[in-house]
Amino acid sequence: MASGVASFLLATALFLVHSHANLAGLAPEGQTAPGFSYSGNNGPDKWGSLSPIYAPCSKGKWQSPIDIDKDKVVLNKTLKPLVSNYYPTNATLVDRGYNVGVLFGNAGVLIVDGKNYTLLQMHWHIPSEHKINGVSYALSLSLSLSLSLVFLGETQNRILSKDYQYPEIRRRDMARYAAELHLVHKASDGGFSVVAVLYKLGHPDPIVAKVQRKLSELEEEVRARHEVVAQVAVGTFETQKLKRHPHKYYRYGGSLTTPPCSESVIWHVLAKVRSISREQVEALDAPLESTCKRNCRPVQPLNGRRVELFDELA
Ligand SMILES: *[C@@H]1O[C@H](CO)[C@@H](O)[C@H](O)[C@H]1NC(C)=O
Ligand SMILES: *[C@@H]1O[C@H](CO)[C@@H](O)[C@H](O)[C@H]1NC(C)=O
Ligand SMILES: *[C@@H]1O[C@H](CO)[C@@H](O)[C@H](O)[C@H]1NC(C)=O
Repeated sequence: MASGVASFLLATALFLVHSHANLAGLAPEGQTAPGFSYSGNNGPDKWGSLSPIYAPCSKGKWQSPIDIDKDKVVLNKTLKPLVSNYYPTNATLVDRGYNVGVLFGNAGVLIVDGKNYTLLQMHWHIPSEHKINGVSYALSLSLSLSLSLVFLGETQNRILSKDYQYPEIRRRDMARYAAELHLVHKASDGGFSVVAVLYKLGHPDPIVAKVQRKLSELEEEVRARHEVVAQVAVGTFETQKLKRHPHKYYRYGGSLTTPPCSESVIWHVLAKVRSISREQVEALDAPLESTCKRNCRPVQPLNGRRVELFDELA
């Protein structure tokens, strides 16, 4: 009995250490990156078996990311515009090996359904994790090819690529946007609320521009020290500039997209796709570990979940 309690406490403590390490990027003393990656033996299909606390990654029923099917989303007229109250704060740019992000000091809150969620950090995934109607923008392929992919559904694509053998098409990445930004907020009860912004290639993004010079410092730091986790102070960050007033967003209940894949996240995926330059994508990608390039988790089954739509103009 006592040992049962002890192991429960240990598991809880480990869970807290890991969630902290994952979310804040502050790996505890002596511990480098959590043992997961995006390819090879510790890739996404193995996450659930790497550690008992990662079990939700394989056993969970409300996992993220997802493919948002615009024909199936439900307009919810009682959803509210996103309200945030962010302050300028000191910030640190962090390379966690599996992604690059910015940790904030006292940055203020996002208010969802009357509840305050404190802005903790933001980070990027390249290419995007969420898909909208499986539409692709992360490509520099011929128009006819991308059109056929947009036109045909995901299933038909698979059949098409099998029947007609297009080995050069990397379908998994084709149906994703170039990048995705996650603004991660946490409530005092431990629940998360994430605002996700999708990017296609084009003009530079002003948010990335703010840390772009520091990104090369970070990369040098990683190379010089041969370390997985590295950080560079950014100074004061005008988090008010991260405020979003979307006319349209998709909301659904899901999980963290990295281990431990905890199912305590309210997702807000903004419908408006922004643009990011190729140089910026490369700068965000450069510090990542080789097994963590293309740090997008495969899309997960909806399992009966409903994706709600907020549309100010509807
Ligand atoms: C619409 O949003 C409200 C407020 O969050 C929620 O209580 C309600 O269940 C949602 N309705 C639907 C149909 O999803
Ligand atoms: C903010 O600054 C304080 C004091 O210099 C420092 O201890 C803290 O780690 C910084 N926080 C972030 C997120 O950069
Ligand atoms: C929630 O945040 C708002 C805006 O910063 C603040 O005015 C309010 O006091 C906060 N509420 C709670 C319960 O902390």
